[in-house]
Amino acid sequence: MSAVEHDGRVVDALRVEHIAKRYGPVRALGDVSLSVRRGEVVGLLGDNGAGKSTLVKIISGFLKPDAGRIVIDGEQVALQSVVHAQSLGINTVYQDLALIDSLPVYRNLFLNRELRRRPLPWLDDRRMAREAERRLDEIGVSIPSVHTPTGQLSGGQRQAIAVARAVGAESRILLLDEPLAAMGAKEGAMILDLIRRIRDRREVAIVMIAHNYAQVLEICDEVKLLQNGSITLDRRAHETSVAELNEVVVEEYRRAREAISRG
Ligand SMILES: Nc1ncnc2c1ncn2[C@@H]1O[C@H](COP(=O)(O)OP(=O)(O)O)[C@@H](O)[C@H]1O
Ligand SMILES: [Mg+2]
Repeated sequence: MSAVEHDGRVVDALRVEHIAKRYGPVRALGDVSLSVRRGEVVGLLGDNGAGKSTLVKIISGFLKPDAGRIVIDGEQVALQSVVHAQSLGINTVYQDLALIDSLPVYRNLFLNRELRRRPLPWLDDRRMAREAERRLDEIGVSIPSVHTPTGQLSGGQRQAIAVARAVGAESRILLLDEPLAAMGAKEGAMILDLIRRIRDRREVAIVMIAHNYAQVLEICDEVKLLQNGSITLDRRAHETSVAELNEVVVEEYRRAREAISRG
């Protein structure tokens, strides 16, 4: 599948335009816009409470924005629910990865989208296992067996399963909310490699929230820094550096300190 084109122009897989969101008195997002194409990764950085997860929850259909538009492949959509967003190919890996440890890997890959032996309602375990093997193989995830209980896998392998689940056949937009947060360096590198392979197939547009600047710069095409619900720094990855990103955050910290000491 190549990028959708109208009049020979590549259309962004996802455009977020002027999104605003409040939780009562708390302004979580002010006026946020971004766009992503297939085969591209946009990195979202920012302090705790900056609004990163709120933005991902809006794109994933979990929250409705107070203002703004979401445009998928050039068409404005009003997302009604997570299921609705999924039906449009928008899939999310959340911070807490929501796998069921007692189920074998292949069942987690098909969680809530189980294959059945139509017209009967029975689960088609054999087909799910076979399909799971094919999918994991395709994106280069190696685990002992798709029949292994998910709880027996390492943290990195479990995260790989969560990512693999989110890039099913119909996936067009992949949202990753801190996929590397609970990982050690080696596992983080493995997940980063997986995300890179998914990117390079150029079928999905990826938005990734992360904390580690070096990791973000390694994989992202664009980096956006969210501060208090607004994008305050917006760079092509090759036009910025760990040092510049650090500088902005140190400055933010300094201002917060001053605000505290002023009382
Ligand atoms: N369900 C909620 N109810 C009230 N306030 C919330 C809720 N979720 C998030 N917030 C607030 O909105 C702001 C943005 O939060 P969030 O999007 O989770 O930020 P991040 O993911 O960047 O840490 C924070 O001030 C947070 O406390
Ligand atoms: Mg968050």
